[in-house]
Amino acid sequence: MQENIIPNQFSVSKNQRSLLNNHGSFLIWFTGLSGSGKSTIANALEKELHKMNISTYLLDGDNVRKGLNSDLSFSPADRRENIRRIAEVSSLMIDGGLVVLSAFISPYKNDREFVKNTVKDENFIQIFVDTPLAVCKTRDPKGFYIKAEKGLIKNFTGISAPYETPENPDLKIDTTTTGIAEAVKLIIQKIKPKLELI
Ligand code: ADX
Repeated sequence: MQENIIPNQFSVSKNQRSLLNNHGSFLIWFTGLSGSGKSTIANALEKELHKMNISTYLLDGDNVRKGLNSDLSFSPADRRENIRRIAEVSSLMIDGGLVVLSAFISPYKNDREFVKNTVKDENFIQIFVDTPLAVCKTRDPKGFYIKAEKGLIKNFTGISAPYETPENPDLKIDTTTTGIAEAVKLIIQKIKPKLELI
């Protein structure tokens, strides 16, 4: 499929875009169960970064699955394809000079590894939103856990589909002990060196 494809080289580089933005570009990858607080923290973080004059974009599972990935289910193969596309989109956005925030359950270790390799290790920060399953079930903001336990939603992460815990995340946040504002502070501290222009 790839044999007759030769990429074009364009004149404006990632470095030039970064100079224009006055900050580095990279990916902040949030992983965790449904209801763990990924989107809430990502949203609060994006608001803060925006205030700091940083150009951002937030990719979120529930939103992207309404558009670009509306053809995908929650089977392991479709979740892999979901994450593969997001890795490629994130990679383009990093090249575009943005700080990208991605909030996807991304339950499989291999898929998260794929993201890291696609965007390159130095552009990847993994944040494990480590809220216990029991708490996510109690929150159940969309009523999905109760449906999944009744068998009305198949392949539901934590109930009828696995979540493979990240072994070495850059940051682990349990929202039962860490508030949103505190989580944002911790992440900003962590990403500071990557915001600097080299
Ligand atoms: S992922 O596993 O492929 O990374 P993604 O983050 O895109 O998942 O989508 C997760 C969101 O889809 C959940 O927050 C939830 O609202 C919804 N959802 C619907 N069905 C499922 C399911 N079977 N498992 C997990 N989430 C589901």
